[in-house]
Amino acid sequence: MKNYQIAVINGDGIGPEVLREGIKILNTVSELDGALSFNFKEYDWGCQYYLKNGCMMPMDGMDRLSQSDAIYLGAVGYPGVPDHISLWDLLLTIRKGFDQYVNLRPIKLLDGAPCPLKDVDASELDMLVVRENSEGEYAGAGDWLYKGKPHEVVLQTGVFSRHGTERIIRYAFEEARKAGKTLTSISKGNALNYSMVFWDQVFAEVGREYPDVKTASYLVDAASMFFVKDPKRFEVVVTSNLFGDILTDLGAALTGGMGLAAGANLNPERKYPSMFEPIHGSAPDIAGQNKSNPMAAIWSVSQMLDFFGHEDWGAQVLGALEDVLREHKYLTPDLGGTAATYEVGDAVAAALRKRVK
Ligand code: NAD
Ligand code: IPM
Ligand code: MN
Repeated sequence: MKNYQIAVINGDGIGPEVLREGIKILNTVSELDGALSFNFKEYDWGCQYYLKNGCMMPMDGMDRLSQSDAIYLGAVGYPGVPDHISLWDLLLTIRKGFDQYVNLRPIKLLDGAPCPLKDVDASELDMLVVRENSEGEYAGAGDWLYKGKPHEVVLQTGVFSRHGTERIIRYAFEEARKAGKTLTSISKGNALNYSMVFWDQVFAEVGREYPDVKTASYLVDAASMFFVKDPKRFEVVVTSNLFGDILTDLGAALTGGMGLAAGANLNPERKYPSMFEPIHGSAPDIAGQNKSNPMAAIWSVSQMLDFFGHEDWGAQVLGALEDVLREHKYLTPDLGGTAATYEVGDAVAAALRKRVK
C-alpha cells in the first residue's frame, strides 16, 4: 500500500469549493486502485487567517508543509487584503521557498471542451507550457525611492541567473525529447536587451546538447498572435515567469476558460514537495455560490498523479474529464451548463468508476 501525505491549502474564494472536488477524485482513485491511498491535512491559511492573525501562514508554515509529499492549493487573494501581500506571503513564498522552479501548464483542448477559434480541432491545440517559476520578473528585486514624493521612482528588476535560466530551458528540452515534440522558446530580445538577449543565448547554447529536438524561437508579441491564429505551431513551449503567466491565461481562453486551466509547480529534484493548483484565482465574483468549475482543480490532481509516477491514473482522470465534457450534462455556467460545482465532481468520479470497472 502506497500512502501519500497531501497538504491542502484551500485558500480563498472558490478555493475550498473546487479543491473539495479534486479530493473527491483522489479518494475515488484510492477506492478503485486499492493499493494507493491519500491522507489529507488541511491548513486554514489565506486571507481570513491574515485578518485574524496578521500573517498569511504561521512562522513554521513552511516546515509543516515540508512534511508532505505534495501540496494541493485552491486560490489565494481576496478583497480586503492587498494582493501583493496575500500572494507574496503564501503562494509565492511556497513556490520560491520549495524551489518549485518549473511551472507546467498544459494548454490542451480536451475532447468536448469549447474552443472560441473556428475550425480548430483538439489535435491542433495541444501545448505544454514550461514557465520559469522562481525568478525573472517575480524575483522581488527592486526599490521604491522617495516614496510619496513628486520625484518618486520605482524599480522592478528582472532577475535572470545563468543557473535559473539554464535549468528551466534544459528541463523543457528534456520534456520535448521525451515526447518527441518540438520546443519553442518565447522571449523578447529585441526590447529587453539584457535579460532576453541572455535568455536567447542560453536557449541556443543548451539546444546544442539536443540536436534531435527541433526548435523555434518567437518574440512574445508575435507568439501571442500565433497562439490565436495558428496554435498548432506550438508543442512544448519554454518562457519566462511573467510571459508564461500571461500566455497561459490566453491559452486558457482558447481551451475552455479559467475553469479548465491547471498547473503544476514542480521541484523536479524532489528535495521539497511540489504544488498542484488550478491556475485561476479566487473568483470573488462567483465565490460561495457553488457555480465554480472544479475541472481545473481536478486536472491538477491528474498532474499530481503523473508526478507521483501513476501516469496511468493521471490519464484516466483526464479521460474522465473528457467523458463529462462530451456528455454535456453536468457542466457549470462558465461552460454553458447549470450544474453545481459538486455535481461536476460527482460526474467525474462516476465517469472514472465507469472507465475502470
Ligand atoms: P480569477 O481567476 O479569480 O477570475 C477571473 C474570471 O474567471 C472571473 O470572472 C471568475 O469568475 C472566472 N473564473 C475563475 N475561475 C473560475 C472557475 N473555476 N469556474 C468558473 N469561473 C471561473 O482572477 P482575478 O479576478 O484576476 O483574481 C481574483 C483574485 O485571485 C485576486 O486576488 C488575484 O490576485 C487572485 N489570484 C490568485 C491566483 C492563485 O492563487 N493561484 C491566481 C490568479 C489570481
Ligand atoms: C498564476 C497567478 C500568480 C502568478 C499570481 C496570483 C501571483 O496569476 O499562478 O498564474 O502570477 O504567478
Ligand atoms: Mn496567472
